Amino acid sequence: MERRDFVKTSAIIGAASALPRFSFAQVKGSDRIKVGLIGCGGRGTGATCNMIEADQNVKIVAMADLFADKIPGSKKKIQDFLNKNFPEKAKDIFDSDKVKTFTGWDCCDALLKEDVDLVIEATPPVFRTPHFAKIVEAGKHAFLEKPACVDITQAREIMDLSKKATQKGMCIVTGNQRRYSGTYQDAIKRVQDGEIGDILSAQCYWNGAYYVGGYKGFENLGFDSTEYQIRKWGAFIWTSGDQIVEQHVHNLDVIMWALGDKRFPVEVRAWGGRSADAELPSPQYGDRFSHCVVDYDFGDGLRLMSSCSQERKTSGEVGERIIGTKGIFTTSGGCRFVDAKGKVLYMNKENFPNAYVAEHKFLLDAIRAGRRVNKLDELIGSNLIAIAGRMSAFSGKKFKYGWMLAKSKESLAPKEWKFEKRAVSVPVPGEYELV
Ligand SMILES: NC(=O)c1ccc[n+]([C@@H]2O[C@H](COP(=O)([O-])OP(=O)(O)OC[C@H]3O[C@@H](n4cnc5c(N)ncnc54)[C@H](O)[C@@H]3O)[C@@H](O)[C@H]2O)c1
Repeated sequence: MERRDFVKTSAIIGAASALPRFSFAQVKGSDRIKVGLIGCGGRGTGATCNMIEADQNVKIVAMADLFADKIPGSKKKIQDFLNKNFPEKAKDIFDSDKVKTFTGWDCCDALLKEDVDLVIEATPPVFRTPHFAKIVEAGKHAFLEKPACVDITQAREIMDLSKKATQKGMCIVTGNQRRYSGTYQDAIKRVQDGEIGDILSAQCYWNGAYYVGGYKGFENLGFDSTEYQIRKWGAFIWTSGDQIVEQHVHNLDVIMWALGDKRFPVEVRAWGGRSADAELPSPQYGDRFSHCVVDYDFGDGLRLMSSCSQERKTSGEVGERIIGTKGIFTTSGGCRFVDAKGKVLYMNKENFPNAYVAEHKFLLDAIRAGRRVNKLDELIGSNLIAIAGRMSAFSGKKFKYGWMLAKSKESLAPKEWKFEKRAVSVPVPGEYELV
């Protein structure tokens, strides 16, 4: 029996026919993996090129985007990448004329009906959970960009979906690429093995000297239109989850990883706001905060201070620090351990592969080997503490992390997916209701 026919046959027991084809069969190295891209923007296009760089035995068969005008640019970038890097295989991997394209609100549904083995989902954050629900239903392997969800309501849903994905034998890898960086992997393993001693405290930062969404465009749509807000999704809370969830989750994820993905805060307290930058008025340039500091109390002496901002003309810093009884892990100047005086105790200078490519290699190798990997829960853990930080900053209130998990009803996404009017406003700490 041919491998591709293997899972299609009704001879497979139970729910197996709903499972992704590569989960069962003894996959040969020569097997072609058919890929569909959902969200043909900057990262989706980049991730497709990264996947091709990781493994040229893929074929991009379908592309989907809410907006038709996003497809041609994405096609061109993929084609240019292939022509430059893999000219002999270019047309075979991606045929711009033959690739199926889908647009509009049901583009994800349409793409999932195609003969694809694996999808790359790289739409704005608010769509990840609803799209993942469809991906799980269709039983396709997936690379999901970060974050996984924007609020606790979506978080609960995607936690359930992740369990279903595992039961279905789907392979899921997420776009928190630091986990696939050899430099980070080596250093974090040493932290987990106790090389810097017991962990006393941690800090992480994504302080940028620019404001994402601080560009002109689409004004004719009206600032209160959801189309405007989706097109400039990075500037709006409901579309992005705010900077802490959308971007700073990378740094929080490193700390959670170092802590073994098992330790969670017991209390969260944050401070934040939006600077009165006259050149970036709200709602034109969004409603999200431009700075936020969170104190995560783990209840056993460990505190994590997190800080993220996007303020123009300010000093930036992106990275993580973990303070142990025997040394300090820092990423400032490259992953390393230093002592209290800054003397380097350890640093791996090996030339590791690009993490953006390595994450796809990990996924494709797992699919081909029939190994089932689901890395989504790791991202959800970091995503949850980011959501908690945002809720505390918006409300100006501290709360128990367990309360958020069990009781919070916060929901940012609209009930229906359609273009409509949606008024937005910048949350005011002390007034924003913690629900
Ligand atoms: N891992 C990383 O380092 C990294 C870097 C950049 C972005 N990202 C993540 O990737 C995601 C996309 O970011 P981006 O920078 O590519 O944004 P982008 O705006 O360039 O691309 C998003 C694309 O999704 C499309 N889209 C919007 N709503 C859709 C829907 N309902 N269905 C289908 N398509 C839809 C948009 O039209 C756009 O083409 C975000 O979640 C972001 O956080 C991750």
